[in-house]
Amino acid sequence: MNETIEAALAANAARIEAALEAFLPKGDGYEAALHEAMRYASLGGGKRIRPFLVMETAGLFGVDEACALRVACAIELVHCYSLVHDDLPAMDDDDLRRGRPTVHKAFDEATAILAGDALLTRAFEILSQPLTHGDAGVRADLVLALAIASGAEGMCGGQMMDLAAEGQDLDIGEITRLQRLKTGALIGFAAQSGAILGKAPAHMRHTLVAFAHDLGLAFQIADDLIDVEGSAVDAGKATGKDQARGKATFVSILGVERARAQAQLLADQAARHLDMFDSKADRLRRLARWVVQRRN
Ligand code: IPE
Ligand code: IPE
Ligand code: MG
Ligand code: MG
Ligand code: MG
Repeated sequence: MNETIEAALAANAARIEAALEAFLPKGDGYEAALHEAMRYASLGGGKRIRPFLVMETAGLFGVDEACALRVACAIELVHCYSLVHDDLPAMDDDDLRRGRPTVHKAFDEATAILAGDALLTRAFEILSQPLTHGDAGVRADLVLALAIASGAEGMCGGQMMDLAAEGQDLDIGEITRLQRLKTGALIGFAAQSGAILGKAPAHMRHTLVAFAHDLGLAFQIADDLIDVEGSAVDAGKATGKDQARGKATFVSILGVERARAQAQLLADQAARHLDMFDSKADRLRRLARWVVQRRN
């Protein structure tokens, strides 16, 4: 398997784009702007890392690809919703996302809030439908895991911490917790969803959660490094914003060099969790290496 991780991600992104398109509404009438904003927020950009994790971990257990693709779309919709709300004036107040105006800029704030809400709920609708898995118990497990990952003890909790910590001096333990919640939780759902779909033994699911823990943290440190060192052209979003807003990040505590070393260490550690999956997990190992070198 000589395929580069970039090629694998690009192929995955094309597949996700087509599948998402089919899940998004396209109506006319008074609600048309909501549908348009949902499409604008979800289509035509993004690395589709979380869907990639779903597809790859599902592959470890021989899961039907059509089922995995639905779960991949569900997690991407939750992620897109989180970005729409993260960019709102009340949160990070950003004007650029994925190289384009943010949703509240292209539409308006009310439409952006509603588009986020509707993307989130669409994700749960997709997971709940029988086509996602023939076994209702598996569907319930997916819904439960995504609810936990998205909610008060997951992404939303982390976003609250992120806002509350602006201008505060967090210690490394607190920042680790913040990042695990705001970014790690959705990545954790993506990585364990293959095991849920494949009804894998608990120890394998736990191994994927451990992999995602380290990967998610490495991923967010890389995001924080891009904010410090990257350009808006490469990143597709404004950079230099974290320091300006007094955000607590690994980079703000450790400095660039030590944060980069920490991200590298976490990525190596993530890959090592995958030993039990032999060469079937090679793409996931490559992803872990790539995550800390990425420029967007
Ligand atoms: C950005 O996520 C927000 C974070 C959680 C760091 P991504 O870097 O995955 O953004 P897209 O989906 O590729 O635009
Ligand atoms: C966003 O983290 C995390 C979520 C949306 C849950 P950031 O605020 O660092 O993401 P960017 O840098 O705006 O993409
Ligand atoms: Mg934010
Ligand atoms: Mg932000
Ligand atoms: Mg960021």
